[in-house]
Amino acid sequence: MSEAPIGVFDSGVGGLSVLAEIQQRLPHESLLYVGDCGHIPYGEKTPAFIRQRCSLMARFFREQGAKALVLACNTATVAGVADLRRDYPDWPIVGMEPAVKPAAAATRSGVVGVLATTGTLQSAKFAALLDRFATDVKVVTQPCPGLVEMIENGDLRSNALRQLLHGYVEPLLAAGCDTIILGCTHYPFLKPLLLQMVPASTSLIDTGAAVARQLQRLLDESGLRARGASREALFWTSGDVSHFARTLPLLLQQTGSVQRFEY
Ligand code: DGL
Repeated sequence: MSEAPIGVFDSGVGGLSVLAEIQQRLPHESLLYVGDCGHIPYGEKTPAFIRQRCSLMARFFREQGAKALVLACNTATVAGVADLRRDYPDWPIVGMEPAVKPAAAATRSGVVGVLATTGTLQSAKFAALLDRFATDVKVVTQPCPGLVEMIENGDLRSNALRQLLHGYVEPLLAAGCDTIILGCTHYPFLKPLLLQMVPASTSLIDTGAAVARQLQRLLDESGLRARGASREALFWTSGDVSHFARTLPLLLQQTGSVQRFEY
């Protein structure tokens, strides 16, 4: 069982930023990745629709014999992780949420910005996160419609992207944020661009490395860590297979076998 693969999914290519962290921390694990690119953006879909997609993903990964599941998507986590944990109580499942706790600890100005999808920011789970960890800081939230679609197209630096991103970051800086949470797994791919837009003293915080650490903890607890040779990842997409295959080296600096996800 410890040599079984781990399922990782996102609405699209964003979860590859998490996959990279998992590969770095757990190089002996085989990974199966699904990008539900045929249904992006999750951030503008209803929670009921996302829950349905989450449950299809879980069924697919169970059929593939996955020993654990990672929701490499904040929006899918707020909508679907509770149902998945209820339906598969014995399966290690790692979800992710915007890094409010570390950001609240890190800020010196007392103002934290959150860039995330509309779905994440409107969720009860996010409100609960703020109640729990952000009582002593001011949090300024910024939904970012349009960014995910551009990243999905492989655009990480066009003028149009730069302008859109600038419009989302500027209000956070104007409000005094010195710490910005990247609350969507697509956004770490925009770090180089973001770093050009914010003062050098601004911290950008994302959750990919924390997810990889939590996965490692859960695998260790259940005695499921793989020990053999370094392993590769296999990829599926519900979108265009050749486009996904072309985007992989751009975002992940690796190529891989990409298959059509028919669910
Ligand atoms: N990457 C996803 C997240 O972490 C959402 C992208 C989308 O809106 O599809 O929230």
